[in-house]
Amino acid sequence: MATEFPLPRVLTYPASAPPSLIAQGAEGRLYKTTHLHADRPCALKYRPPKPYRHPILDARLTKARIAAEAKVLDRCYREGVPVPVVYALDAAAGWLMIEWIEGIPVRQGINEWLGERPEDDAPPAEDLDETPIVDLMKRIGQAVGSLHRTGVIHGDLTTSNMMLRPRPQGSEPEADAKKKAVAGDVILIDFGLATQSSSDEDRAVDLYVLERAFASTHPRAERLFSHVLEAYKHSFKKAHSVLIKLEDVRMRGRKRSMLG
Ligand SMILES: Nc1ncnc2c1ncn2[C@@H]1O[C@H](COP(=O)(O)OP(=O)(O)O)[C@@H](O)[C@H]1O
Ligand SMILES: [Mg+2]
Repeated sequence: MATEFPLPRVLTYPASAPPSLIAQGAEGRLYKTTHLHADRPCALKYRPPKPYRHPILDARLTKARIAAEAKVLDRCYREGVPVPVVYALDAAAGWLMIEWIEGIPVRQGINEWLGERPEDDAPPAEDLDETPIVDLMKRIGQAVGSLHRTGVIHGDLTTSNMMLRPRPQGSEPEADAKKKAVAGDVILIDFGLATQSSSDEDRAVDLYVLERAFASTHPRAERLFSHVLEAYKHSFKKAHSVLIKLEDVRMRGRKRSMLG
């Protein structure tokens, strides 16, 4: 079958399942395929050449970005941060193959939970048990905390760049569909903009990006965000000073938006 762009050779490995396109972003495409074994699904991130960029510069940029993303993921995985493991890469060819994470994006889980809520921002009714969604907020805070503890800044924290992976069958059978939507382990993905830093400022900006993304993606759940920060606070030693810095970062953000 003719393709619009030449596919990287890895996409045509005989052992691989036919790759299916999962997402097409500004920077690249994400395919689902298999790695080495038919029952080992994987995500293949491919950054095609950009025709509008100088070819040598483009090749150098692509190679550096793929290599950086793989390096950060690898480091996180070894330090126990919940991220997909790296299976293979060819930075010069522009691709990275990582573990396939089952489940749904956190954004979708939160929206499914909110789906049955009343539209207004009224405080929850007395009988409304918010424990499952509050628990999810805490797991998000812990995941981001473990990332920061290892000295990595994500650079694009949103509820779309986190997956909710169901726990192995039978561990907690969940009859309630709504509860099921927000159950599972939080896995951080999309390290295309990640950098290494342990400064309070960089960590605070990372949290601020998430706070803003959360407020615009989930306006009806905005008040729940405090649970993310509360869990973050207890996730590593320096987290407390990051949260103090976050107040400065917010203030600057407000000033900037007042100036237009
Ligand atoms: N390892 C993975 N397992 C399962 N789905 C993934 C994985 N990585 C990415 N995805 C899906 O593909 C989408 C795009 O991937 P992402 O890494 O976020 O790239 P982009 O830079 O295009 O946002 C994600 O939002 C997610 O739905
Ligand atoms: Mg993404």
